[in-house]
Amino acid sequence: MSEGHEIDNLLHEDRHFAPTRDFSAQAIAQPTLYQEAKDNRLEFWANQARYLDWAKPFTEILDWSNPPFAKWFADGELNVSYNCLDRHVEAGNGNRVAVYFEGEPGDSREITYAELTTQVKKAANVLISMGIKAGDRVAIYMPMIPEAVVAMQAVARIGAVHSVIFGGFSAESLSSRIEDAQAKLVITADGGYRKGKASALKPAVDAALSGGRCPSVDNVLVFKRTNQEVGWVEGRDVDFNLAMAEASDEHVAQAFPAEQPLFILYTSGTTGQPKGILHTSGGYLTQASYTHKNVFDLHPETDVYWCTADIGWITGHSYVAYGPLANGASQVIYEGTPETPDWGRWWSIVQKYGVSILYTAPTAIRSFMKMGSQVPNQYNLSTIRVLGSVGEPINPEAWMWYRKVIGGGHAPIVDTWWQTETGAIMISPLPGITSLKPGSAQIPLPGIEVEILDDEGAVLGRNHAGLLAITEPWPSMLRGIWGDPERFVETYWSKFEGVYFAGDGAKWDEDGDLWLLGRVDDVMNVSGHRLSTAEIESALVSHEFVAEAAVVGAKDETTGQAVVAFVILRQNQLEKAGSDADVSKILRDHVTKEIGPIARPRTIMVVAELPKTRSGKIMRRLLRDVAEDRPIGDVTTLADTAVMDIISGKVAAGASD
Ligand code: WTA
Repeated sequence: MSEGHEIDNLLHEDRHFAPTRDFSAQAIAQPTLYQEAKDNRLEFWANQARYLDWAKPFTEILDWSNPPFAKWFADGELNVSYNCLDRHVEAGNGNRVAVYFEGEPGDSREITYAELTTQVKKAANVLISMGIKAGDRVAIYMPMIPEAVVAMQAVARIGAVHSVIFGGFSAESLSSRIEDAQAKLVITADGGYRKGKASALKPAVDAALSGGRCPSVDNVLVFKRTNQEVGWVEGRDVDFNLAMAEASDEHVAQAFPAEQPLFILYTSGTTGQPKGILHTSGGYLTQASYTHKNVFDLHPETDVYWCTADIGWITGHSYVAYGPLANGASQVIYEGTPETPDWGRWWSIVQKYGVSILYTAPTAIRSFMKMGSQVPNQYNLSTIRVLGSVGEPINPEAWMWYRKVIGGGHAPIVDTWWQTETGAIMISPLPGITSLKPGSAQIPLPGIEVEILDDEGAVLGRNHAGLLAITEPWPSMLRGIWGDPERFVETYWSKFEGVYFAGDGAKWDEDGDLWLLGRVDDVMNVSGHRLSTAEIESALVSHEFVAEAAVVGAKDETTGQAVVAFVILRQNQLEKAGSDADVSKILRDHVTKEIGPIARPRTIMVVAELPKTRSGKIMRRLLRDVAEDRPIGDVTTLADTAVMDIISGKVAAGASD
């Protein structure tokens, strides 16, 4: 763990923030949860599952007879959408607001549980009329508008499987994900509002399906959000708004087995090919709702909850589309970017809707910090009572700022560690119980068992950096990688026998609080978004200019890590292009086109050589030193030690913006 050592001396944190008596007195999570889970972990999870409405109650809790292929609550049956919608209406809460929608241009809508239920029933009927059946895959490529949630819920309602693709991904990425899942239908929109203007989505879908690609797709359902002009393929494209207007609002949700696939969500791994992480129904909804309620101290009658994540990420699945709705919460959905029309936008939304629980990412917090406290200070944020953080480690300085400036100096911060693969929060303080420590995710939730292991799998005690492993199955665990069971076993379950390998470094401190130390594999974390070095490298070498490429995540003050690419160019191609070709811009544009703007390298460094071990493996550690402008580390395993001198001499010439 070479990374761990650098971080070790940073992890001394003496500040503690004990819960106030008032907060604890009203808290949803009770300290007895820890004991209950310890006494009988499976019974504990069964009790959490019983908060859901089961059409057919389960009798079996966990089937772990064929690890790592788990089945939770397998003989039970339920409908996910019924649990998120109809049951709240039936309980007399139909008039409660489910969604406060704030469009970027300033339009807003309130949608009650009764209204949302009706919309999802209509959308389910639209899907059925297009021939979508249980088990079919539906790709969703939508802006952050309520219809995105309606689409997800409607797919779930009929037992089909959604694959949401983040709107920032390119046509290429969209195409490969549609192909991999063999989606029959794509649900999209003409566009959405971002940074003050209508930004198009439909053209990317048209491009993804062009030239005979994605033959599995029969139809494209297009929601009109911006009313910008879009191309239209007769017989394939269907107007979502018109179809909804004509659809019946009657639909009785049918129950499906607990292990019915619910969604696939693609995430970056250590190879160039993204992995389709598969989640199923009963266990997923159990843990999404349990964590949402206890970690955020949700009081559904009075709280206004806002998670700023896009539905294109797992956080937008578990803590926008499913967890909050299963718990009958009232939540804010905001379409646009935080700086539109200015950096006060989020805080004006908090003030407007009286947001009481805010869940966001450290990158955003650091951006706000940079703009200065005077911006949020202009707004009334006094309704805020719980703050959450997710996606990357939150540095203690940002934690303190978040608490003081956004949380009025009193709101507890829950630093939640989890992954696309875990489906729901795994490690987090519980507000009202845990004494908080800035920068540490602290302890596994009741029902979750983790260890920190060394490379050989030996359990490490306090103050030793090692690898984070989850040692017992959990209800919302991934059930596999779509179409690739071997990769599932190989990636997560073969490093240590019978134990889930998370790919993160971690350490227990002297108080027994857990610190996350970042990825230990070739996965980067840029603004809380996972990107694979291999994926970006393969995008770079697909350009005619590039002979070889190596990508690293370099520390970045705002985004956590930034993409830095080292490339060796093909001289002959370059000469053809002419001496004034802006190589850096061309290659950065190329990555944007191949993967999407989130993967666009911050810096391209043109080099003559790359540092490699004798076995030919690129030594990213050394490249990171160069990218972060540190003295170069140990180079003794390098095949040619002179390479590093050449490369570091190049740094000054490296193009960057
Ligand atoms: C990182 C996002 C430190 C971690 C929910 C993990 C974190 C990866 C935290 C998963 C946190 C997430 N502290 N690191 N609180 N939360 N991570 O799949 O490296 O997009 O493996 O899921 O983000 O990213 P993913």
